[in-house]
Amino acid sequence: MIELIDICRDYIMGDSTVKALDQVNLKIEKGEFIAIMGASGSGKSTLMNILGCLDRPDCGTYLLDGIDIRDKTENELAEIRNKKIGFVFQSFNLIPRTSALKNVELPMIYAKKDATQRTKKAMEILGSLNLGDRAKHMPSELSGGQRQRVAIARALANDPDIILADEPTGNLDSKSSLEIMEIMKALNSEGRTVIIVTHEHDIADYANRTITFRDGRVISDVLRDDALKGDA
Ligand SMILES: Nc1ncnc2c1ncn2[C@@H]1O[C@H](COP(=O)(O)OP(=O)(O)O)[C@@H](O)[C@H]1O
Ligand SMILES: [Mg+2]
Repeated sequence: MIELIDICRDYIMGDSTVKALDQVNLKIEKGEFIAIMGASGSGKSTLMNILGCLDRPDCGTYLLDGIDIRDKTENELAEIRNKKIGFVFQSFNLIPRTSALKNVELPMIYAKKDATQRTKKAMEILGSLNLGDRAKHMPSELSGGQRQRVAIARALANDPDIILADEPTGNLDSKSSLEIMEIMKALNSEGRTVIIVTHEHDIADYANRTITFRDGRVISDVLRDDALKGDA
């Protein structure tokens, strides 16, 4: 469902060029649970931005469900993003002074879903993440773990096939981190493709496949059949 062929992404800084991604080839099947690892600056976020159609490669081909994203206009890419992909970030990226409920409704507003339906759906998702009693709260009134769960609820608003999470537990204590990973595991069990960036091996252990980057290249790609399946 995801295929990257000889992908590169260069950043030109004055008269030097940083090869953030350097000839990356990857195939990711629907329903995989993948951890992306590698030192800071190795290209992980650049990869996630390209996978999520937030950025375009400078060379190579990205096929998403067989569609070459190079042929798409910005508006078409925005539509693909909104429909197929849910993003979760390290710093939650919730809209401040806006209730949890409204934050979760936002992607459905962009998708032109009607108001009654979107409130109902947002409440359902918040309820499924144990946030039913927090719907009216502002992000500033929530703990880090709760904010990240609201962010996950927002990512799920349009029922995406793919969840992209860039260091989703990077700002959380270990208990909240494990809660977030249990949610990721459940989303994967529902058949969604889950791709997370992490520095921590105990977080990566939830995944079935670990891809490690160095200097914009894949240096290892390991499948594991002993990923954490039981309850943590
Ligand atoms: N917007 C940008 N402008 C210039 N250089 C960038 C930009 N984004 C990333 N880079 C550079 O590209 C490389 C990869 O960055 P990034 O993908 O953010 O790494 P990671 O997420 O693994 O820490 C780094 O050398 C970084 O400095
Ligand atoms: Mg990063």
